[in-house]
Amino acid sequence: MEVINRVITQSLPNYLANLPVPKSFIGFARMTVSEWVSLMPFVGAVSLIVYVSVQAFKGKPPEKKTPVNLKVMKETGKVVNMVDIEDLGDKVSYCRCWRSKKFPLCDGSHNKHNEETGDNVGPLVLKRREATN
Ligand code: FES
Repeated sequence: MEVINRVITQSLPNYLANLPVPKSFIGFARMTVSEWVSLMPFVGAVSLIVYVSVQAFKGKPPEKKTPVNLKVMKETGKVVNMVDIEDLGDKVSYCRCWRSKKFPLCDGSHNKHNEETGDNVGPLVLKRREATN
């Protein structure tokens, strides 16, 4: 702790007092090469502190949002499928992974998608209830 105290209270003030900082902006133009060289460590240290501070407060970049639908009817603004309930038959499976080549019906493409991505999507299965007598 004594070393830190000595650096802050003695060494740093002495170092800063001996920096060749001109009293006006025109003074920068009159500085010699050796004065510029002696100023470089200070400018580098201040630049590094500013850069690290800005990076720390900048935070994470926003996550890029990816579409769910990668290829189905991309030319339309919204994919809407209508099915007459009378045409459903006894059982039908509708795709919910947006990877089916028979969209909106499921063709099993969700299995490959799940294997490749670790996802767990599957179809919506509509099944007619057995008539009870
Ligand atoms: S193919 Fe998409 S849920 Fe089966």
